[in-house]
Amino acid sequence: MDSIVVTGGAELSGEIPIAGAKNTCLKLMCAALLSEEPLTLTNVPRLSDVETLTTLLESLGTEVASVQGGNSLMLSAADITNMTAHYDIVRKLRASFNVLGPMMGRCGEAIVSLPGGCAIGARKVDLHLTSLEAMGAKIDLEEGYVHASAPTGLKGTEIEFPFVSVGATENTLCAAVLAKGTTVLKNVAREPDTVALAHCLIAMGADIEGAGTSEMVIRGVDALHGTTHRVISDRIELGTYMIAPAIAGGSVELIGGTRDLVAALADKLEEAGVEITETDKGLKVNRANGRVKSVDVTTAPFPGFPTDLQAQMMALMCTADGVANLEETIFENRFMHAPELIRMGADIDVHGGTAKVTGVEQLRGAPVMATDLRASVSLILAGLAAEGETVVSRVYHLDRGYERLEAKLQGVGAKVERVAA
Ligand code: EPZ
Repeated sequence: MDSIVVTGGAELSGEIPIAGAKNTCLKLMCAALLSEEPLTLTNVPRLSDVETLTTLLESLGTEVASVQGGNSLMLSAADITNMTAHYDIVRKLRASFNVLGPMMGRCGEAIVSLPGGCAIGARKVDLHLTSLEAMGAKIDLEEGYVHASAPTGLKGTEIEFPFVSVGATENTLCAAVLAKGTTVLKNVAREPDTVALAHCLIAMGADIEGAGTSEMVIRGVDALHGTTHRVISDRIELGTYMIAPAIAGGSVELIGGTRDLVAALADKLEEAGVEITETDKGLKVNRANGRVKSVDVTTAPFPGFPTDLQAQMMALMCTADGVANLEETIFENRFMHAPELIRMGADIDVHGGTAKVTGVEQLRGAPVMATDLRASVSLILAGLAAEGETVVSRVYHLDRGYERLEAKLQGVGAKVERVAA
């Protein structure tokens, strides 16, 4: 298996282009199931998660054509020929569970494997299922699969989510756009990915009000048509590469990045002493003067600090001046990077959902591995600031969510190489 070798100490300088957002793109791809007409997506990131979802959608009868070397996808679900999303794929990519809402909206039936556990938490799907039940679906669980059916179609209703769930909001939204009558969804996700999904559905003919607020009103329509939609910039890739010059030193311009996508992170980085400037092309991040200052962070649904940037922020705080408390409120097991950072010389004390990080003068390179995408990239970031070589294994996690990671970092002067095993 490949590894990534990072030799720390190089200051960064130059530009990094930000790709289309993974978590937006995956949900938009699922939404293609809602229409007989093709949905064309542009600015598609080249990631293994996109390939995995393509395989699943093809297994359901969708034709997926890659255009411009994979930068655009044309998804045509004229006929849904198979109602089962198999465990083999859903276990590899949890976002596959988001075919359930579109299939229920379009066909009134679906058999979708439960995704199972995950390295960062239990990640239940109960809210996805109770929402469909509230809309009149019958749900049975058999041999690890959700069997959902609504032979006379789904009916609009009022649903208040007990807490914010990105996936449940998006699955329910997709089911509601073709339901009979009006669905009111309360306490919904306001993540840019969810808002982008709503905008794409509106362009396909859906009647949705309130995207980006905590309540959405969806009036069901008879059918959706095709459209072409550009995937927004990946705010987590953007945030990750904003932390790169903050930890390694230097100045990097992130092309296609906008502050509104990462406002909570930008505020924290500025508090820590990093300079952020909006430019014509994106965002410029500059750390000129020595170490950053420690800042406390609590993860929260958007517009709060994203859980998907907590590991990267922890890497930065390991090198900061002072003590930072990082509180994780979204997932119950998302500190798996802490023991690996400790192997690199970090001083981290985890108690329940809080990590107390005392900055050290110098991290040291070490062989490390991680159990999920964001944890893996936090080790790469730590490696940029460490003395000597950091060898990050299980690179397949990174390939799920970071397009051309080594090339982008090499482009700004980082010493990062992929080594085949
Ligand atoms: C999405 O996951 C993202 N994935 C995650 O990104 C991200 O960390 C997360 O939202 C939070 O922002 C995709 O969009 C593909 P949730 P999702 O439903 O939708 C609990 C990455 O690294 N919950 O908002 O699965 C759940 O266990 C990934 O790119 C239930 O209890 O997240 C969690 O504790 C990782 N029951 C919390 O809610 C449910 O039915 C929030 O999860 C649903 C969720």
